[in-house]
Amino acid sequence: MITLGVETSCDETSVSIVKNGRQVLSNIVFSSLKEHKKYGGVVPEIASRAHLETILPCLDLSLKKGRLSLKDIDLIAVTQGPGLMGSLLVGLSAAKALALGLRKPLVGVDHVIAHVYAGFLSDPHLTFPILGLAVSGGHTMILRMDSPSKVKILGRTLDDASGEAFDKVAKILGLRYPGGPEVDRLAKGQDSALFKFSRPFLSKDSLDFSFSGIKTAVFYKVEQLKKEKPLSLKVKKEICSGFQEAVCDVLAEKSVRAAKMEQVRSIVVGGGVSANSRLRYKLRRCAKAASIRAVFPDFCLCQDNAAMIAALGSALYLEGRRDTLDLSSYSDFMYHPSV
Ligand code: KG4
Ligand code: ZN
Repeated sequence: MITLGVETSCDETSVSIVKNGRQVLSNIVFSSLKEHKKYGGVVPEIASRAHLETILPCLDLSLKKGRLSLKDIDLIAVTQGPGLMGSLLVGLSAAKALALGLRKPLVGVDHVIAHVYAGFLSDPHLTFPILGLAVSGGHTMILRMDSPSKVKILGRTLDDASGEAFDKVAKILGLRYPGGPEVDRLAKGQDSALFKFSRPFLSKDSLDFSFSGIKTAVFYKVEQLKKEKPLSLKVKKEICSGFQEAVCDVLAEKSVRAAKMEQVRSIVVGGGVSANSRLRYKLRRCAKAASIRAVFPDFCLCQDNAAMIAALGSALYLEGRRDTLDLSSYSDFMYHPSV
């Protein structure tokens, strides 16, 4: 079965073709990131206009790379939400037009669950049940997945998402947007003990997260240091390291704790922050000590991409899921877990 996936939830326009739910034939991603950089964050109107301009070239390129034509497509999968409303609507409209024109079935896919499901594209031996850690710019969640459609949310952030905390701390330090990769790069080889930040909620039994406190602690630390003298690059690097260590400790320890509680043997991490080198190291080490497998997506599948949408869409289709042309987008506020 050949599935065409469409993803336009934020600033990446992506069209991908996946064969039999696991084999990525093409995964084209156009990003409008450059256009947002000067504003220090994604501007929804700019993002949706960029999707309008790039969705068709993206589709053409994806078919070309996969050496296929539209008539070879069996199923259309599309991101339904959560995401920016205007951006989601571009992808949904394109996917519906394709489904209607080609007379092919349509399946709407949850973006956050798809980030976790990307692990199945990277690890052919992965099987359910899995413990998912979704860490992106907009979400941080611990999920239990027993099948593509049976998903239970065990914990979530009560304030900032983990990626958002990285971006905000980078901004406080005067680094470029998006901040996650910058903080990761600068923290390398630094002593994380020089600036120690608290590990929020780590001592609590709850699997929820809170990251806004660490961000505020970094802000006050920076303000205090700046009163003495301007921050040197070395000090910025040390702060990045201390902050990253605190966030990664919480993410790693909580997900391993959740896997133990749920008696699940595989932790699958997904979303932009899953590219973080320190998180990869810490979670792998922490999981190994508990004889649990830690699965991270390939780097190209950490960011927003349509391959994860096509993969999850085809798995849902095989379970019997069908959507109609009145499929609507949903935002964070309307977001309800499926189970
Ligand atoms: O999943 P994603 O591409 O988009 C959303 O669905 O939000 O995640 C983007 C987020 C940004 O906050 C970015 O700073 C963060 O992922 N990120 C990282 C790294 N690479 C991207 N955070 C920490 N370390 C990284 N290496
Ligand atoms: Zn995402």
